[in-house]
Formats: sequence, C-alpha cells, structure tokens
Amino acid sequence: MTKVLVATVKPFAPVATKGIAKICEDAGFEMVLLEKYANQDELIDAVFDVEALIVRSDIVDSKVIDAAKNLKIVVRAGAGYDNIDLQASSSKGIVVMNTPGQNSNAVAELGLGMMIYLNRNGFNGKAGTELRGKTFGLHAYGHIGKIMGHIGKGLGMEIHAHDPFIDKIEIENDGVKFEDNVKDLYKKCQYVAVNLPANDETKKIINYDLMSLMSEGATIVNTARKEIIDEDSLLKMFAERPDFRYITDIAPDCMDEIAAKYEGRFFWTPKKMGAQTAEANINAGLAAARQIIGFLKNGDTTYKVN
Ligand code: 3PG
Repeated sequence: MTKVLVATVKPFAPVATKGIAKICEDAGFEMVLLEKYANQDELIDAVFDVEALIVRSDIVDSKVIDAAKNLKIVVRAGAGYDNIDLQASSSKGIVVMNTPGQNSNAVAELGLGMMIYLNRNGFNGKAGTELRGKTFGLHAYGHIGKIMGHIGKGLGMEIHAHDPFIDKIEIENDGVKFEDNVKDLYKKCQYVAVNLPANDETKKIINYDLMSLMSEGATIVNTARKEIIDEDSLLKMFAERPDFRYITDIAPDCMDEIAAKYEGRFFWTPKKMGAQTAEANINAGLAAARQIIGFLKNGDTTYKVN
C-alpha cells in the first residue's frame, strides 16, 4: 500500500492529523505519523519505504532524500520551503510542493498581535501606544502581507505596500498605497512587516540602508525568516536609534545581546508559532494530503516548486 509519512517535529493539531489520515485512507493510501522526533536519524529511518512525505519546517536534506528510495513527492505544509533541498530532490525526480496561503491568516494575526503586545509593554500596566493612525508598510504583498494590511486597516492604520511581483492596481484596489521604490516604503512607514521568503536573493536584504530610513517609532515586524535580516544592521539600529524596536516570530542569532541591552524594545516568541493554530494546521495539512493524492493519482503538479 502507498505510504504517506507525516513527519513533524512540531506536531499538527490532532484534528488536522486525523483529517490527513482520512484523506489518505479514502484514497487507499496509508498515513504514517512521526511526530516530535528528537533527531534527523529518526526521520531518515522513517522515510525508507514511503512514496510521499508531508513536513513543516522539518529539514529534508540530501541525506533524507537519499534514504527515501521510493519517494516521489514531498509537500511542505506551509509557505516557505527553504528547509527542503530542492536540488537533491530534483536530481532524484522527486516533486516538491508547498501549500501557499493555507496558513497565512494565522501568521498575519500573530504579527499584529505581537505589535499590540509590545505597544502595551507586555500588558504590564504601564501606559503604552496605539496602532491607530500609524503608518504600516508591507514589504511584500503576498498572502500574509495582504491579510496584515486588512487587519491593520481595521485597526485604523495607513497601509503602504511594496512588491515588484504584484500589480499596482491590485494593491491600490485594496485601499493600500503602492510604493514602487522599496526605500519609499521604509521612509514613509513607522511599522514595516517583512514577509519575504529566505533565498539567495533575500538573505540579509533588510539592512541598515533600509531600516535607518524609517521615521520616529521605527518598528520591524518579522514573521518570515531570521535569515532575511542583516543582524549587524539590526544591532546598529538598536545602538543608534533609541526609538527602534524589533518584533519577530523567530529569535535572531544575536538575541542575547539585544535582550541584555535593550529591554522593552523587542519581542520574540519563545518558539516559532505563527502557523500554529488548529485552523492553519487543518488548511495546510489537508491541502498537502490532497495535493499528494492529486499528484500520485492524476499527475497534478500544481504548486510544484522545483
Ligand atoms: C511557513 O513557511 O509556512 C511558516 O513559516 C510556518 O512554518 P511551520 O509550519 O514550521 O510552523
């Protein structure tokens, strides 16, 4: 029987795992579950006889690919697939897909939630600040950026967006100010949410040249990947600009230095949890299972990324 391995260090909500199992069963496939595994060897052992693999941020490197002799498809249940070795997969004819948009609402809600949390000093009772009337820049206007803009508007923020891949009309139709030049986005906005994938083009792209353009109350919100921020620039901003703040779902490598010196000016989640809601797990997990069935039964390669 065709085996679909769900390998998640960070488990899906049980309701999502059950849904994946049901989709597999209805298709005549068997779902195998590997959750909270402690090391890569467990994943390497588990993939040896499976035809399909569903993962989250789990590392699918060339060792995993080499060990998976029957593997035909890997689906990253989520947006970013920087955890998967695309070259190794392609060289073995393995199809890699993601499930774009399926967990975006959860990530966007967390981003705005963290902004409120820091603005209210971690709910410690001291007077904080409000988001209403503030400028909010979206560096990339994909699924997450669009929802963040929508929520920000609901809170009374003025929304700006820069995205070279999205049509100006589409952005303006949402009542969002289009910024052709990324520098203008940073110049005009007090809050900037960075929603970029981590790849060779985007690594360290958020640097001092951009961040230093921001006006008083400059706050960067990163629910994407730590790699897109240049950490030397981040430390320079903290040192030079007492108004600068950093909010993120992925603690930077320089977290100890920031924590020691800049109390009250940063917040990061103890564990990456943007997509960790039952709804996002159901959306992304079930989409992943359906994409696997669609590919293995009908050769459907929608959302293939390699
Ligand atoms: C994504 O790329 O979809 C998000 O970063 C969520 O990652 P996670 O599935 O590991 O929570």
